[in-house]
Amino acid sequence: MCATPVHVPVLLQEVLDSLPVPPGARILDLTLGLGGHAEALLARADAGSRYLGVDRDPEARALARERLGSDARLTILAGTYEDVWEDPAFQAWMALQAPEGLDAVLMDLGVSSLQLKSPARGFSFRDPGPLDMRMNPESGPTALDWIAAQDEGSLADAIYQYGEERASRPIARAILKALREGRLATTADLAEAVYTVLPKVVKGRRVPLDPATRTFQAIRIAVNGELEGLAPAIERAVRALRPGGRLGVISFHSLEDRIAKQTLRRLSGVYDGPGRHAPADLPKLVRLVHPGGLAPTDAECAANPPSRSARLRVAERVLT
Ligand SMILES: C[S@@+](CC[C@H](N)C(=O)[O-])C[C@H]1O[C@@H](n2cnc3c(N)ncnc32)[C@H](O)[C@@H]1O
Repeated sequence: MCATPVHVPVLLQEVLDSLPVPPGARILDLTLGLGGHAEALLARADAGSRYLGVDRDPEARALARERLGSDARLTILAGTYEDVWEDPAFQAWMALQAPEGLDAVLMDLGVSSLQLKSPARGFSFRDPGPLDMRMNPESGPTALDWIAAQDEGSLADAIYQYGEERASRPIARAILKALREGRLATTADLAEAVYTVLPKVVKGRRVPLDPATRTFQAIRIAVNGELEGLAPAIERAVRALRPGGRLGVISFHSLEDRIAKQTLRRLSGVYDGPGRHAPADLPKLVRLVHPGGLAPTDAECAANPPSRSARLRVAERVLT
């Protein structure tokens, strides 16, 4: 029998130390995943608390339900953190359970280990699978469909912008050549196309970071539209907090973290725009709890290496 997939929740202690769980807590988890953070937060919450978990991935929701489903305080909804706000079921939960606002919101961004490690989901270049990469396999184009809709320039731009890959142009050319020649069906095929430009072994030595890593990250971000909706979702989450309530955002790469940092700075009333004068209507909705963000301890990095790039930013809603 297969063991239930595991996703080790990152920065768990820091999340527990940062997010308030008062009696009768109202908590919104916009990236429920396999429910690791949810399980720990619910363990701190009393019987009168309520927890709403949202995820776009049906497989993750099913596993979270299996893990936590008997907990009557938990409601699980399908959706994305950018669009769930318009869902009548979400609006009804908010109106009924949190009319005064939320105590805590958590956004643990990116992909889960479940997604990354399941070859069938098509995220992994280590284990071949179909070129899919959708966090919600029931919606939107697969990675293969998305690549097939690009020209060399747009594919190179995405690989450069979302993967911060300097060899984006020759990589895009190699990928589209493989596609034209009927050699691009699996994640292994995509990785092979990248290796024709950036070999895995240089001067007899294996390069430390697999050269396909940045290209896979870029295509995954593009396929799932991971960055577009992030800033508006953070702002909506902040506005849904009660005064004293807190939002925690965990990011895994610099692109996400930059958006989280800039959005929270703006919502704290800091003006980073051009010119010396801030617009008069700049809101001051939050104070930044850990202005530089929190990184995992050495012990966490050693125990769970994927956590090493994580960063937690926390903002507290202020009275306005
Ligand atoms: C890092 S995992 C969360 C893990 C979770 N905190 C836990 O401890 O099990 C990120 C989850 O967010 C989901 N996700 C990513 N982008 C999303 C979005 N825009 N809206 C909703 N869920 C999203 C993914 O499907 C994935 O399950």
